[in-house]
Amino acid sequence: MDSLVIEGGQRLEGRIPISGSKNAALPILLAAPLVDGQIIYQRVPELMDIRTTTKLLSLLGCEVEQEGKEVRVTPGNLTPEAPYELVRTMRASVLCLGPLLARLGEASVALPGGCAIGARPVDLHLKALERMGAEFELEGGYIRGRCKRLKGARIQFDMPTVGGTENLLMAAATAEGETVLENAAREPEVVDLANFLNFCGAQISGHGTAVIRIHGVNSLSGCRYRIMPDRIEAGTYMCAAAITRGDVKLRDCPMYEMEAIVAKLSDMGVAFEQDGDDVRVWVPGDLNCVDVRTQPFPGFPTDMQAQVMALMCRSEGMGVIEETIFENRFMHVLELARMGAHITLTGRSAMVRGVERLVGAPVMASDLRASASLVVAGLVADKTTTVQRIYHLDRGYEVMEEKLQAVGARIRRVREQ
Ligand code: UD1
Repeated sequence: MDSLVIEGGQRLEGRIPISGSKNAALPILLAAPLVDGQIIYQRVPELMDIRTTTKLLSLLGCEVEQEGKEVRVTPGNLTPEAPYELVRTMRASVLCLGPLLARLGEASVALPGGCAIGARPVDLHLKALERMGAEFELEGGYIRGRCKRLKGARIQFDMPTVGGTENLLMAAATAEGETVLENAAREPEVVDLANFLNFCGAQISGHGTAVIRIHGVNSLSGCRYRIMPDRIEAGTYMCAAAITRGDVKLRDCPMYEMEAIVAKLSDMGVAFEQDGDDVRVWVPGDLNCVDVRTQPFPGFPTDMQAQVMALMCRSEGMGVIEETIFENRFMHVLELARMGAHITLTGRSAMVRGVERLVGAPVMASDLRASASLVVAGLVADKTTTVQRIYHLDRGYEVMEEKLQAVGARIRRVREQ
């Protein structure tokens, strides 16, 4: 497996372009089976998870052509099975359940199982689809669902679930009658999916709030759609710029969707200046630790927790980071500790005490954002940091080492023979 080797201590300076959002692109691509005709997707990030998704779409019977960041998908003769070989590498494959049930009246999707950051069940997706008339059974590790035409229903989620809300948006877009989703996820990626479906002819309103109304339509038609920029990628580069006390301009940075991240980083001492779609990020004085609590949107995102922790490791004072979304999302703590960080873990809270210096070490990451936090730490650590198992990073960050090299980082990929 490839590694990233970082010689820390370089101040980052220059421009970093922000790519299309992975978490928006995944459901929007997987909605394709719902649509009649061709969809032209633009600003699709070139990532491992996207390749898995286009492979899945081909297996489901869609014709897929890709030219760089443009992906054209034409649904053909669809089949209802998402095989385990693909689902096990990407949990988000479970998002094809809603579209397949809506389009074919059946779906057979491998149960994703646990993942490094927690149990992450899909019970809320299934319960909600049952309310619309679907029936499920578990057979050979597969969720097998059946239904006649799905029927609109009033669905109250026990907790806001991003994937669950997305699956239901897709299922309800062409269902009979009206569906109301209560306690729905408000994440910008959910909004991007709803905007896409509306572009195709769906009638969805209330997205971005906790109550979404979907008036089912008979069919959806193809369109051209540009995926939103990636707020988590942008947030990661904000932390990278700040930890090196650099001065970086992020191009196409979705500031409007990043209020909680920007507010926290501002409290820490990071400065921002917006110029159209570009945002300048720099540190005019000291950086201070703050308390952070992860929350569903519009709160502070769990997907930024690890990167902000890395930044706090090189800030003044002490701060407590509380993870409320996933039960097992602190695996980066021990790796950061190997680089000299002072972090005390108690259940779902981590107390970080800033240190004067971090020292490079070989480190290993267990999930995507944990890997990103180790890169952020490596950028400022003395000597050499080797981040191993970077296939996690390749799942979610487009050409990360090239973007960082372009702003002065000494980082290179070492390919395993
Ligand atoms: C999505 C994001 C992920 C992000 C997460 C929270 C994608 C591809 N992934 O994941 O990067 O970290 O949102 O912002 O967009 N839950 C249940 N039962 C369910 C569904 C969820 O108990 O049926 C729980 C989960 O275990 C978790 C919480 O609900 O504790 C939130 O999960 P959810 O919002 O569904 O996350 P994902 O959609 O999997």
